[in-house]
Amino acid sequence: MNFTAHNIKLKDGSTTMNNGTPILAESAMWTSIAQTVDLFFPQTHAERATVKVADLGCLEGGYTAAFARMGFDALGIEAREDNVKNCNLVKENLGLPHLNFVKDDVRNMAKYGPFDISLCYGLLYHLNDPVSFLQTLSDSTKKLLLLNTHFAPEHDFRYSLGPINNYLLAPIQKRTHFLERQKNYRLSPITTNEGYRGRWYKEWNQRTAKSGIEKMLWASYNNDRSFWLCKKELTQVLHSVGFTHVFEQFNFTGDLVPDHYTSSFNRTMFVALKS
Ligand SMILES: C[S@@+](CC[C@H](N)C(=O)[O-])C[C@H]1O[C@@H](n2cnc3c(N)ncnc32)[C@H](O)[C@@H]1O
Repeated sequence: MNFTAHNIKLKDGSTTMNNGTPILAESAMWTSIAQTVDLFFPQTHAERATVKVADLGCLEGGYTAAFARMGFDALGIEAREDNVKNCNLVKENLGLPHLNFVKDDVRNMAKYGPFDISLCYGLLYHLNDPVSFLQTLSDSTKKLLLLNTHFAPEHDFRYSLGPINNYLLAPIQKRTHFLERQKNYRLSPITTNEGYRGRWYKEWNQRTAKSGIEKMLWASYNNDRSFWLCKKELTQVLHSVGFTHVFEQFNFTGDLVPDHYTSSFNRTMFVALKS
């Protein structure tokens, strides 16, 4: 059992990680999700058993399990074999009736829906077709989307320097944080994809073998580069695919991720609702 990010409390009180990583279900990250869900969904386990949740790119199943522990009917969708194996270890250990996992590309989520709630944490910025995926996501989500994602900065002169940034400045900033007000992700210059502005992010080399891609447990799966939409474009897409209300949430920082996460890492947490 090798868990890389989700520290989950098991039935006998032991945990999936033993390196000081906060327990996921006790972290600000999870509490912010649970409190938001409580605003819009019933509180009793009996009522929640009929509320379907999708956890997209669920990694080791920590969030999926936390939803199931709250009483929801939760399905984690994950592309990587090793991650799904860990998810199923958690499922077997907890023995919760409404905790399930499938090995699939999230782009196929419609096969398993519709869902009342979709959790899209750390996943959208691993796709090369985020606009098309957000349409799929909206078509499969009846009420609430929790979307934690990176977005592309509108202005960042480093990303117009091409190889100078990629091979010189970015490695220096990675080691020394020299003048690094915002993290250097080696993004492309601003361009357009699927009709919206953003920047490309290189995930892995096109020549990487399938076995190598399987071992990159947090990365994209079926695309070697991902497209990060600019923030304004992202909110426009969320509205145009059918979410009537789009909010931003800030109370997920403080333990698993630092408080300056939203300002230094081009990342935010959207709460999108259908009325
Ligand atoms: C950065 S991790 C985030 C994991 C988890 N959602 C979290 O926030 O802790 C991205 C996860 O998405 C999975 N993933 C990437 N692309 C995927 C795809 N197209 N379909 C299904 N899973 C994918 C990866 O294997 C990995 O588990």
